[in-house]
Amino acid sequence: MENTRRYYIDLQMDKLPEAQKAALQAQADAVDYSLFDALGAPAVADTKGEITPIGAVEIKDIAEKDAQFRAAGLDAIRAGKVGAVLLAGGQGTRLGSDRPKGTVNIGLTHDVYIFECLMNNLKEVTDAAGVCVPLYIMTSTVNNDDTIAFFREHDYFGYPRDYVKFFIQEMVPAVDYEGRILMKNESELVLSPNGNGGWFSSMAKTGMLDDVHARGVEWLNVFAVDNVLQRIADPSFVGATLLSGCDSGSKVVRKANPGEKVGVLCREDGKPSIIEYYEMSDEMANLRNADGELTYGFGVILNYLFLVTKLEEIMNDRLPIHVVEKKIPYMNEKGESISPTEPNGYKFETLVLDMIHMMDDCLAYEVVRRKEFAPIKNLHGADSVDSARELLAENGVTL
Ligand code: UTP
Repeated sequence: MENTRRYYIDLQMDKLPEAQKAALQAQADAVDYSLFDALGAPAVADTKGEITPIGAVEIKDIAEKDAQFRAAGLDAIRAGKVGAVLLAGGQGTRLGSDRPKGTVNIGLTHDVYIFECLMNNLKEVTDAAGVCVPLYIMTSTVNNDDTIAFFREHDYFGYPRDYVKFFIQEMVPAVDYEGRILMKNESELVLSPNGNGGWFSSMAKTGMLDDVHARGVEWLNVFAVDNVLQRIADPSFVGATLLSGCDSGSKVVRKANPGEKVGVLCREDGKPSIIEYYEMSDEMANLRNADGELTYGFGVILNYLFLVTKLEEIMNDRLPIHVVEKKIPYMNEKGESISPTEPNGYKFETLVLDMIHMMDDCLAYEVVRRKEFAPIKNLHGADSVDSARELLAENGVTL
C-alpha cells in the first residue's frame, strides 16, 4: 500500500538529479503513513455514541452570579494561572486572501486589523486585572513569517512582547482519490496544516508547554482568529468554569434556528461532546424542551477553556482524523501544474472540538450572540466581513 501512496513521489524520484533526491526522500520518510488508515475507516460522524442533551449556565444564571464568577476569574488571572492560545494556522480559503487571516483590514475610515480587534479585546481584560496573560499564537509554515512580521510591524498592538509567543503547527500531506500523495512541484509534497486539533501537541513539541509550566499557567483559553468579538480570558467564564469543578468549559450561543450550521455541545455516552450540524437528524435538530427552547440548542463558537493537567493526560491519545474533500492544486504525471476547479482529493485534519469528548466534563457557558460572536469566514453574506462590521459597530467599535 505504501507503494501506491508513493506513486507521484517515485515518478519524480526517477527524474530528479541525485542532489535533490535525498531531500524528497526525507520528506517522504517524514510522512506518518498511519494517517491514511482514516481513508478506509468509517467517517467520524458514523462512530458517535449515544447522544443526550447537556445543561448550561445560561445568561440569566450568569446575570445573578456574575460578580462571584468574575471575582474568581480575576483571582486566577492575577495569580498567573490563565494563558490564551490563538489558533491562527488556518488557510482562510473562503476569505480568498493569501495573507494570514488576522492581517486582514476590516476598517472603513481607518485601519482596523482582525489581529488588532483580538488584542484590544484581550487588553480590556488585562487592564481590568492589572496583569498580562501569556498569549501563544499558533501559525503554520505557510503563514508564520508573515504573522510574526505583522505583529512586529504593529508593535504587538501595545501588548508586552514577552507575553506573546509564536509556534508552528504540523503539516500533513494530501492525497488524490486513489490515496496517492500529491506533489506540489518536482521536489515538494503538497503539505497543509493538520487542522486545529493538533494545537496542544504542537505546543509540547515546540517548547511552549515548558513556558506554560515555567509561568505556572494552569488553564488555557483556546480561541479562533476570525471571531472579532471574541472575549479572551473572560474573567466570568474562567471563574464559572473553575467554580464548577469541570476540567473544561465552552462558550455557547443559542442556535439562531434549528438548521443553523454550527456544532452543538451535548453528551455522548454520558461524556461531554460536540455534535456537528450534519451529524444531527432533522428530528434531533428540531426537538424542543417544555419551555420551547431547542433541546440541542447550544452552539459552540470555538472558545474553550482547558485544564492543562488534563490536556497532558490525554496528550498521547489519538484524536479522530477527519478526511476532508478539497480542491488541491498539484503537479500531474506530465509535470503540469493543475489548479482544479472541483474537489480532486483529500486533506486530513484533527479538530479541537473533538478534545471536548476527552475531558471528564465541560461547563457550557452561554453568551449573548450579538455581543460575542462575529466570525469572519467569507467576504460577504453570512459570517463575513460585512456582518462582522455591522456587529462591531453595534458594540461600539469605530471602523
Ligand atoms: P476554519 O475551520 O474556519 O478554517 O478555522 P480556516 O482555515 O481558517 O478557513 P477556511 O475553512 O480555509 O476558509 C477555525 C480556526 O482554526 C484555525 C483557524 O486559523 C481558525 O482560527 N485553524 C484551522 C488552525 O489554526 N489550523 C488549521 O490547520 C486549521
